[in-house]
Amino acid sequence: MEFLNKTVLITGGASGMGLLAGKCFAREGANVVLADINEEDLHAAVAEVRAITERVIGCHTDATKYEQVVSCRDAAVEAFGSIDILIPCAGGAERRILGLKERNFFEQPIAAIDFSLDMNLKAVIYFEHAVMQQMAKQQGGVIIHLGSITGAEGSAGNIGYATSKSALMTGTVKSLAQAGAPYGIRACCIAPGPVMTRPGMAGMKTLMGYPAEPQEIVDMMLYLASDKARSVTGTTILMDGGRYVMENKR
Ligand SMILES: NC(=O)c1ccc[n+]([C@@H]2O[C@H](COP(=O)([O-])OP(=O)(O)OC[C@H]3O[C@@H](n4cnc5c(N)ncnc54)[C@H](O)[C@@H]3O)[C@@H](O)[C@H]2O)c1
Repeated sequence: MEFLNKTVLITGGASGMGLLAGKCFAREGANVVLADINEEDLHAAVAEVRAITERVIGCHTDATKYEQVVSCRDAAVEAFGSIDILIPCAGGAERRILGLKERNFFEQPIAAIDFSLDMNLKAVIYFEHAVMQQMAKQQGGVIIHLGSITGAEGSAGNIGYATSKSALMTGTVKSLAQAGAPYGIRACCIAPGPVMTRPGMAGMKTLMGYPAEPQEIVDMMLYLASDKARSVTGTTILMDGGRYVMENKR
């Protein structure tokens, strides 16, 4: 019950690590707000969390639309009175999400790059902008966003994803830490390597020889959100099984 009376808002909360995080924070007593663009999956996700706690709501939100982001923030505050932890988890590589062919950067449609920058970077900053206004009023909060090993390595065919994650892992997390500290707000970033939210991730090499389980990443979220991590801010934690330091990863 580490997060009793605390409220966590998670984007991309209808699936993968976002949904698992919702369930784990609920088990620790938190009020849970799940935001997602996929309405059907969101309903199912809210039902799963409701099996753990009554104190859950879903916000059908396109995180790339700032007015919808503000509505979600307001719905969370109306339901629970505060937002103590923000996890903007929604994201993904454009080639996979849009079903694009494996092509070089300059052969990808420019619309795909726009789509990716909007979803992976601007949408995250939109939620952080809206929710930090509430956290500043409360004089406290924790923001944990998701980077990726791709942000450190680059990706010729997913430049929107690589660029967004790279930004979140450096400029964004450091800026948020500076902006938030006077209000008692911490900002952190977790950058996973392959995580088994889908079978395809098993094929991505790591030094350790295995991908991470979603629970490992969520355990780090629980730690970073807790007072045990009260001195952790403005930094990115790489959870990549050593992929970044591998010599032959291709
Ligand atoms: N799975 C991995 O191997 C891995 C590795 C590194 C980083 N990450 C990052 O971790 C995060 C979570 O990954 P996952 O695999 O659990 O995700 P996922 O693909 O299972 O879930 C993403 C969720 O985001 C939602 N979403 C997409 N666009 C949205 C929008 N505009 N507004 C609101 N919701 C939207 C989707 O509907 C979906 O429910 C992502 O940011 C991802 O880039 C994942």
